[in-house]
Amino acid sequence: MKVVVCKDYDEMSQKAFEVMKEVVTSKPGVVLGLATGSSPVGLYKCMIKDHEENGTSYKDVVTYNLDEYVGIDRSNPQSYYTFMKENLFDHIDIDPNNTHVPYGSTKEDCEGYEKELEKVSIDLQLLGIGRNGHIGFNEPGTPFDEMTHIVDLTQSTIEANARFFDNDMNKVPKQAITMGIGTIMKSKKVLMVVSGPEKAEAVKATVEGPVTTDMPASVLQNHPDVTLVVDQAAASLLSK
Ligand code: F6R
Repeated sequence: MKVVVCKDYDEMSQKAFEVMKEVVTSKPGVVLGLATGSSPVGLYKCMIKDHEENGTSYKDVVTYNLDEYVGIDRSNPQSYYTFMKENLFDHIDIDPNNTHVPYGSTKEDCEGYEKELEKVSIDLQLLGIGRNGHIGFNEPGTPFDEMTHIVDLTQSTIEANARFFDNDMNKVPKQAITMGIGTIMKSKKVLMVVSGPEKAEAVKATVEGPVTTDMPASVLQNHPDVTLVVDQAAASLLSK
C-alpha cells in the first residue's frame, strides 16, 4: 500500500486529484468507482475546476457508486444520488446515462447492480473510510468475499451520519445497499482519501494492523494497487 501523507484536507484533495486525473486521461472509456461523504468532496471540486479550466472531458467516462441508503427516494436531498449530482455530475460533461448509483432494498436489486458491474472492470475505485474501518457500507464483520448486498448500519455509522440529517439519529436510514468487499477488491486500482483525527485509529489498523473482517479496510493490504492519501491528523498514529 502506498501511503501519501499531506498537511491538510486541501492538499489531500489535490494529491488525490493528481492520481484521479492520470487514470481519467489514460484511455477513453475509463470506469470509475465513486464514493460519497465528506472525504471526496475536495477531490470532486478539483475535478470540476480542472474540467472548467483545462477542459478535461468526462464524456466517455463511466461511473459506478459504492452505495446508497435504503428507504429514501433518489430525489431526497440526502440521497447519494442527489449528492453525486450536486457535488460532481452536474458540473462536468459526463453523460448521465453513464453514471450508476445503486438503488433498492431487495436481493434482486443487489444482483442487478452486480450484473451491471460484471460487464465492466473498474479502473479506479475511490474510497473513504468510516471511523470503525468500514468501506462502502461494509461494516465490521462483513465477509471479504461478499458482493453487492443490503446492510444494517451500525450505531457508530448512524451517529456519524446524523450530521447530514439535522443531527437527528432517528432520521438517518437504518439500512443501505452497498458494493461488497468482493466487488471492491476486483477493481484495478484503489484510491482512498482520509482526513481528521477521528480516523487515525482506523488508518493505523488499515495500514499496520492484522487483516481481519473486524477492520474491513484492512483487506486492502491484499490488493496489489492501493494509494492511501491521508492528512497529518489521520496519519498521526502511523508508526513511520
Ligand atoms: C460513502 C461510503 C462511506 C464513506 C465513509 C466515510 O459512499 O462508502 O464508506 O466513505 O463513511 O465518510 P466521510 O467521508 O463522510 O467521513
